[in-house]
Amino acid sequence: MRRKLAAGNWKMNGLRAALSEVELLAKAQPAPNCEVVLCPPATLVRSMAKVCVDNCVTIGAQDCHENSSGAHTGDISAEMLVDAGAEYVILGHSERREAYGESDETVRLKAKAAWAAGLSAIICVGESEEQRRATNTLDIIGGQLAGSIPDAATGENLVVAYEPIWAIGTGLVPSLGDIGEVHDFIRMRLERRFGEGVGRSVRVLYGGSMNPGNVDDIRRVPNVDGGLIGGASLKAADFSKIIAALAA
Ligand code: 13P
Repeated sequence: MRRKLAAGNWKMNGLRAALSEVELLAKAQPAPNCEVVLCPPATLVRSMAKVCVDNCVTIGAQDCHENSSGAHTGDISAEMLVDAGAEYVILGHSERREAYGESDETVRLKAKAAWAAGLSAIICVGESEEQRRATNTLDIIGGQLAGSIPDAATGENLVVAYEPIWAIGTGLVPSLGDIGEVHDFIRMRLERRFGEGVGRSVRVLYGGSMNPGNVDDIRRVPNVDGGLIGGASLKAADFSKIIAALAA
């Protein structure tokens, strides 16, 4: 059985004052059936990890560099994130693939660096609106999975997040059938490449306008093991509802 996962991606949001939301979340009743990960901007990783010490919220980051140290002005290594208290890192989010031209190859190198430092990688894949219209969504996803995930994947070091680009921050969500089709495909590809044991143990999250109103339907889709949640993870009240639904 894969444990459900609610991962909040705060993107470039949150000052120290926002730690009060995390305190609320950290005080809430633990949901043993659902792991909770919050991925704040790098500036808050340390302070959020301190707030969440000894409770059921784990901290992640939103990116790391593929090298462990060196002359890379402005970048942060996986080892630094671990040092600050992170246990997860989101890699290959479409916003980074688009804005920084991150290729599958770059994402794969970053995932290797994350694993070497002891982080679990949440690797994002997803099609654009044009690609979905051209009905080659599964080809796109298949290519991203093959190119972005290193060979040494396990159920512990890898989470895959399916995030259709057109659903991110738009309020649009694919039909449950379309979500199911992509999640089944991802599971099949994971099993084919890594074997049934590993393939079945990797969690596959859905992301893109997930909110307290739609999570209950989405979580029932086979092979959906949780969510990667942007806007609705910023407020403890909304995120707690999503966690409760995923844990049900
Ligand atoms: P929203 O939940 O705001 O649509 O963002 C999804 C996302 O990009 C999470 O990584």
